[in-house]
Amino acid sequence: MQNVQVVVGVQWGDEGKAKIVDYMAREHDIVVRFNGGANAGHTAEGEINGKTLKFVFHLMPAGALYPEKLCVIGNGVVLDPAQLMNEIRELESHDVSIRERLYLSGALHLVFDFHKAMDRKREQNRGPKGLGTTFRGIGPCYRDKAGRSGIRLIEALDLDWLKSRLEGIRAEYFSLLNDEEFGDIYKMAKESHKFAKEFENRIVDTGMFLGDKIAEGQRVLLEGAQATFLDLDHGTYPYVSSSNASAGGACTGSGLGPRYVSSVLGVVKAYCTRVGSGAFPSEILTESQDQVDLIDFNGKTRNAGDYLREIGNEFGATTGRPRRTGWLDLVMLKKAIRVNSLSSLALTKLDVLDGIEQIPVCVAYEYKGKRIEEVPMDARHLKDLKPVYEYLPGWPGTVQGCTGFETLPSEARAYIEAVEERVGIKVHLISTGPNRSSTLETKT
Ligand code: GDP
Ligand code: IMO
Ligand code: MG
Repeated sequence: MQNVQVVVGVQWGDEGKAKIVDYMAREHDIVVRFNGGANAGHTAEGEINGKTLKFVFHLMPAGALYPEKLCVIGNGVVLDPAQLMNEIRELESHDVSIRERLYLSGALHLVFDFHKAMDRKREQNRGPKGLGTTFRGIGPCYRDKAGRSGIRLIEALDLDWLKSRLEGIRAEYFSLLNDEEFGDIYKMAKESHKFAKEFENRIVDTGMFLGDKIAEGQRVLLEGAQATFLDLDHGTYPYVSSSNASAGGACTGSGLGPRYVSSVLGVVKAYCTRVGSGAFPSEILTESQDQVDLIDFNGKTRNAGDYLREIGNEFGATTGRPRRTGWLDLVMLKKAIRVNSLSSLALTKLDVLDGIEQIPVCVAYEYKGKRIEEVPMDARHLKDLKPVYEYLPGWPGTVQGCTGFETLPSEARAYIEAVEERVGIKVHLISTGPNRSSTLETKT
């Protein structure tokens, strides 16, 4: 019996984690978000009162669409109360009640307006070297957390304490933000206190809460935001987010130690995308004339990157920015398998590759004239890597509507088996569309 499963992204985010979490949540009692903040945009589609509805969650765990599941926001998350309230109200407007089944860690850190102002200012100061953040205050909030001056949700229950802490933080930000940019301390204190009071009896020590539930036999799904290559330690630093988005973060961000975890599922898109700045070795450049970046489709030659963006609808779920597109990178995937100790993979958006005759997959890099099969440790050199591609045959027709692995076109099965063979673990779930029913389980 698998009691605790972790789901993480293994590329640069937007792999379809929420779609997979929503699908897997059928077999779990509790879904926990363990890292990141409202920088995440997690799209899930659920059947609600007989209608298929699509939600983009930023903070709410993707299990929220099932009326009976508990949702937990762990201590590893940085929480913007106004954003969470928007999501609660949106669910309620569709008759999905959530307040009574939502639990928040008392140790999670609160995001304030001055964090967002600081995020914007730092990006402006970085100029062309900007990271392309989501402006959700993520970096500054985690910076305050690591600097031991942040504010935890449980502390917001004490209004006097909260005001004095905010006054202390104001002093620290004095040379960085003016009064207007920082915001009104008393208004901020009142609002976050009101939020904390509203959830007072649902503020828990998530480790203890989950540990008790697991002891009662309940099944827990730990949902990651961002992804392995946006992980503060293991990603393409400094072009990363500020939390541990890989599987280790599931433990520190929920309060459950590693021996609770029964399995770790890595979500990987059948190609690859990235939003914001930073190296992306297998990126398809819009202006590229390179043979590998052009595809023949319906008798026309097209830039494959534009094609994947259009067919895959690759526009940011949080910021609406067009996502950069590229081919599946197996070198990075192998690193992600190790970093996360993945048990198996969920391969998403296979349908987007429908009809492409030859599908490139990156199997190595050329670096300083040599072939390498590992991601170099010094991320400054990632921009100098040249991808080495192997071509796998594509399939005619579509994988959409296929009801099992055996019903996929033989080339699609061969594509999946080739990926499995090259990275050494199995694909357990295959996603061929955004909704729950477009999910195939393999026999592994
Ligand atoms: P997340 O951040 O990893 O949860 O992913 P996002 O929600 O940011 O982006 C994934 C997008 O792809 C969403 O619009 C999903 O509805 C959509 N999606 C997920 N799985 C599939 C799939 O298998 N096929 C297609 N065509 N779309 C998918
Ligand atoms: P989900 O959970 C894709 C990227 C931003 C930027 C960098 C730092 O939906 O997969 P931040 O605002 O976190 O300081 O920005 O990280 N980024 C994401 N990219 N999906 C996400 O989340 C992301 N969250 C942050 O674009 O490059
Ligand atoms: Mg996303």
